Amino acid sequence: HTVDLELEAIEKGGFDHFMLKEIFEQPKSISDCLRGRIHPEEAWIKLGGLRDYIGKLANSKRIVFVACGTSWHAGLVGEYLFEELARINVEVEYASEFRYRNPIIREGDIVIAISQSGETADTLAALELAKSKGAIILGVCNVVGSSIARVTHAGVYTHAGPEIGVASTKAFTAQVSVLSLMAIATAHQKGTITEDTFRRLLWELQEMPKKVEMILQKADEIKDISKLFTFASNFIFLGRGLNFPVALEGALKLKEISYIHAEGYPAAEMKHGPIALIDEDMPVVFIATRDSSYEKVVSNIQEVKARKGRVIAIVSAGETEVQKMVDFTIEIPNTHEMLQPLLSVIPLQLLSYYIAVLRGRNVDQPRNLAKSVTVE
Ligand code: G6P
Repeated sequence: HTVDLELEAIEKGGFDHFMLKEIFEQPKSISDCLRGRIHPEEAWIKLGGLRDYIGKLANSKRIVFVACGTSWHAGLVGEYLFEELARINVEVEYASEFRYRNPIIREGDIVIAISQSGETADTLAALELAKSKGAIILGVCNVVGSSIARVTHAGVYTHAGPEIGVASTKAFTAQVSVLSLMAIATAHQKGTITEDTFRRLLWELQEMPKKVEMILQKADEIKDISKLFTFASNFIFLGRGLNFPVALEGALKLKEISYIHAEGYPAAEMKHGPIALIDEDMPVVFIATRDSSYEKVVSNIQEVKARKGRVIAIVSAGETEVQKMVDFTIEIPNTHEMLQPLLSVIPLQLLSYYIAVLRGRNVDQPRNLAKSVTVE
């Protein structure tokens, strides 16, 4: 057993938990995911696995993402990306619902499964159903040679490397990176983005590992904030646009590993329910980066502060306005609005990690959860 423990310590590479190691691996996993796939100077993007399918994506009438858990959140980010950049109608489905609903599949529909393990039973079944109805099926998987990777017509691997922590972190950012690449390549082929935007997006992707690194350097700052929220019994996470799925993911991470009840909501929906929960004991995490919904998020923050909620805000570097209104801010670097989730999710991963550790939880193997769910 001592040998096992020593081996595990080596595998953790000096980190206390696999989850923390994997959070810190993200500059590397994102660059591994991008390697050989983009070239900003020469302005090209290449997804070998989709060679014959980018044209089909560009011509598709509808894309349906099927996934579960964190991968479903990546699908929601994919929805914003494909709709905004490639102007394609997108639906994001929980695989478990899709497969039992006699879903409508028309000619020209493309169904894309997102799965870290490539073995999730519901996602695999949803995909097989879509295939039997004549859809083109594609996969975004991390595990090479997994069942989903094998059953699909084509796909893109995320190349995040093995993920051991049950709570997904680096697999999520790799999924979002791949979906960004797919949406940009499709939009470029279709002519729905300008050459300028195309180049700018490639440059921004290239810069991403460095920017993620800058956020990781703030880990101690985030740890200090988490100390003040260790004993909260509820949490709300709010964001708009591409940061709405990030709010869902932030809430899921916290639930999974700290067992604190947490809800993610689109910030504007707050007034239709969750606002009733807000008092001086309710921590609210806002993602309030400088993007097209910034002003609206600022007024949502004011609504929470007026009810004495305690606010932690993820803001863009150089922010001063929100800083004056809230209890804590965590600054993250600027990037293209469409790529913001790759940065805004990082402080939320760290926040939930530190809160869970302070509560004495087993962060790598939370109770009742499994890394991959291969049965229904
Ligand atoms: C389980 C894991 C989650 C994961 C989900 C989907 O619930 O605990 O972390 O997001 O399955 O897994 P997949 O391998 O399909 O991405």
